[in-house]
Amino acid sequence: MTINVLFVCLGNICRSPMAEAIFTQLVDEAGLTDKFHIDSAGTGDWHVGEKAHPGTRRILAEHGIGYNGRSRQITAQDMSNAKTYVITMDQSNSNNLRRTFGQHPNQHRLLDFSSQKTETDVPDPYYTNNFEYVYQLVKDGCAGLLKTIWEREGL
Ligand code: 4NP
Repeated sequence: MTINVLFVCLGNICRSPMAEAIFTQLVDEAGLTDKFHIDSAGTGDWHVGEKAHPGTRRILAEHGIGYNGRSRQITAQDMSNAKTYVITMDQSNSNNLRRTFGQHPNQHRLLDFSSQKTETDVPDPYYTNNFEYVYQLVKDGCAGLLKTIWEREGL
């Protein structure tokens, strides 16, 4: 059975594409590619169809990760599978989803899986421009998320 993981942010050009790319690499490295369907989406529609932000593409490239996704807005269909791991980047994303689609039983904030305790929300590099800091936070959160899914799904 495929495990669905959907990363969500506001614009789907900075943080959630980065999380999708990093998590995909971790899953590939663990030899679990066939078990997962990994995707990302934004709550907003401003950047639909656009490539990821140049800062996200640059930082991923610096860490040897490719990414070719285009921004899309989240749909009711995305939220209709109760088993999908819906992983938001910050509390505002979580609130937006809850307001639009109601409570989802498997919705979490990425940094709830993180080993660091400084940040609970992934700061938005669209405004901070600190893509390396965001990369480190997202990578740590993704590693914790994979460990949790591994245990929960008995992989
Ligand atoms: P993201 O960053 O949610 O990490 O993709 C943003 C991208 C675009 C906008 C806001 C945040 N925007 O307002 O256009």
